[in-house]
Amino acid sequence: MAFGWIDEQAAARRRAGLVRTLRPRPADSPLLDLASNDYLGLARHPEVVAGAVAAARTWGGGATGSRLVTGTTELHSELERELADFCGFEAALVFSSGYAANLAAVTALAPHGSLIVSDAGNHASLIDGCRLARGTTQVVAHADPDAVRKALGTHEGPALAVSDTVFSVDGDAAPLAGLAEACREHGAGLVVDDAHGVGVLGAGGRGAPHAAGLAGADDVVVTVTLSKSLGSQGGAVLGPARVVEHLVNAARTFIFDTGLAPAAAGAALAALRLLGREPERATRAREVATALHARLTAAGLEAVRPDAAVVSVRAPSPEEAVQWAADCRAAGLLVGCFRPPSVPDGISRLRLTARADLSEEQIERAVRVIGGTRP
Ligand SMILES: Cc1ncc(COP(=O)(O)O)c(C=O)c1O
Repeated sequence: MAFGWIDEQAAARRRAGLVRTLRPRPADSPLLDLASNDYLGLARHPEVVAGAVAAARTWGGGATGSRLVTGTTELHSELERELADFCGFEAALVFSSGYAANLAAVTALAPHGSLIVSDAGNHASLIDGCRLARGTTQVVAHADPDAVRKALGTHEGPALAVSDTVFSVDGDAAPLAGLAEACREHGAGLVVDDAHGVGVLGAGGRGAPHAAGLAGADDVVVTVTLSKSLGSQGGAVLGPARVVEHLVNAARTFIFDTGLAPAAAGAALAALRLLGREPERATRAREVATALHARLTAAGLEAVRPDAAVVSVRAPSPEEAVQWAADCRAAGLLVGCFRPPSVPDGISRLRLTARADLSEEQIERAVRVIGGTRP
């Protein structure tokens, strides 16, 4: 029977306790949210919503075509200019998602005969970029510039190292300066995904590459998402103008995809301008993460010290992680739950988002609930 094999896979997932289900979220949910990626609390900010509404009124509900045909509006160009300036890069190119931006950067910059050196903890979208690229991928130990150096030393021809700047599972930061040094020794390019860094790390949220002194470097390319700190939807690649021009001509997720919806571009631009005026939002997100970590640790929980705004708490097993998250939910707290196959090391965790707009009372309540429901 067609698709019969799906039932076998579903049964195996059920046996392993790994079934995932969708839970539609009501607009007025009473739950305290530590699960979203809305790090700066901007997704529902009146200025961000107004940016989306104004853009939809002016440009319509959709971009109407591929960026190369009708899908590039003046709004897209404005967003690209301001995003590049904010993060300190020569040029930017906006995509319909961060996922598409990562596929574009890796595939277009790793031609046939090239080597891609990829961190073992990279996000699925970078991994998929490696899978689609014409170059050969070598996966190396997590956050290890020497492993990158060694891998690059084995190859002649174009090469690229790819890494998240902040790893989405444990919230730990990549050693960006060390990675850039290893790449430079071998004339390789560096592509980093700052999805969890932009808006949180660097001066006023200018991102992890900016903090590491790599902004504007001619051998560094950065991808970001507009869907986390900037409270919108979409992604972008930032880098030298010649890289961006190359992507316009060669990146399939740019060429064969409808441009980012105007409302999303308008919301992201409003959020970016807001962050420019209120840089303390970035500092506050980091402070909330430090406070959450300190209090969880004091309560005897095994939490990873956060480098940005993701706080990860170890759970004993996938089943207990799921139950723990469900118990938190029943007690009014929404937390993320990471478990295999989404975690490369097989360790299940609760994943908490340190939102800049959390109050002291909310931080305390969250820790009380997590501690009180532990397996
Ligand atoms: C590290 C990282 N890169 C890329 C993405 C994909 O971004 P988007 O949701 O905009 O497609 C995500 C998650 O969404 C992420 O966590």
